[in-house]
Amino acid sequence: MAAPTAAAADGRHAVRGAPIEVDYVGKVYPMRRGRSVEAVTDVALKIAAGEFIALIGPSGCGKSTLLRMMASLEAPTTGAVRVGAADPRELAAKHRLGVAFQDNALLPWLSVYTNLALPYRVARRPVDKQRIAELIELVGLKGFEDARPKQLSGGMRQRVSIARSIVLEPEVLLLDEPFGALDAVTRRRLNAELQRIWMADPVTTVLVTHDVDEALLLADRIVVLSPRPGRIAKIRTVPFARPRTTEVTRSPEFHAMVDELTADLDMLSGDRGTDG
Ligand SMILES: Nc1ncnc2c1ncn2[C@@H]1O[C@H](COP(=O)(O)OP(=O)(O)O)[C@@H](O)[C@H]1O
Ligand SMILES: [Mg+2]
Repeated sequence: MAAPTAAAADGRHAVRGAPIEVDYVGKVYPMRRGRSVEAVTDVALKIAAGEFIALIGPSGCGKSTLLRMMASLEAPTTGAVRVGAADPRELAAKHRLGVAFQDNALLPWLSVYTNLALPYRVARRPVDKQRIAELIELVGLKGFEDARPKQLSGGMRQRVSIARSIVLEPEVLLLDEPFGALDAVTRRRLNAELQRIWMADPVTTVLVTHDVDEALLLADRIVVLSPRPGRIAKIRTVPFARPRTTEVTRSPEFHAMVDELTADLDMLSGDRGTDG
């Protein structure tokens, strides 16, 4: 593995996944009466195969818009997004993208098992019961196969969401604030779990988060966006080897980076008043 990422440094397994190229992308949403909202502008970013990127920035700066363009749920107004060599629409059509967004809820009338079998049905593929069983084990939900989502805690539901996003072994994983609604303790636990899951299969991942600790725990690089229209304000490489244990997260070096990025976010958010 001669990948130029941090992969070699921290003994990651073979890198799987597609690179992503965001090529001077802009997005303008048309509004009523001829008005429009410019969500992002001039965003250029190359993400290597198997790289983990965290996207942070003030609320409303276009993070979700960028992610939705990578997922081909939204088309860029200017520029282009390519996943692998292809337009993301091709990968989406082949179900090679895994997405977990805070609002793409599980189907409440289906069991955990059936929710995890759903991506196979959508992709018209035979359900791999073995894979589903392994994933249920991996995310710590053994014994809850037949439970309905409302019988689970918020943290357990998010684990099912994460499991569902990787069930088809996607080449790209897109996560939009997947832990946003959870309490701090549950969040930290799921962060550690996501790190473990990703290290076992380090697929190209883009995680939108407003949590600087989460970004530093998980990412190879952190991309900081400016207020709307979002553009790249800063890119920070995270130097810590994995697994990033509590020893790492309690180190002065880690805290220095938390402070730096928090100050960046405060500064960027402050520019736009108090509505963030
Ligand atoms: N479908 C849409 N139609 C119109 N405006 C939108 C739409 N989606 C997002 N926006 C606007 O684009 C800007 C960026 O939104 P979003 O990407 O959701 O930001 P973030 O995820 O960083 O909070 C916001 O001003 C938002 O109101
Ligand atoms: Mg968002």
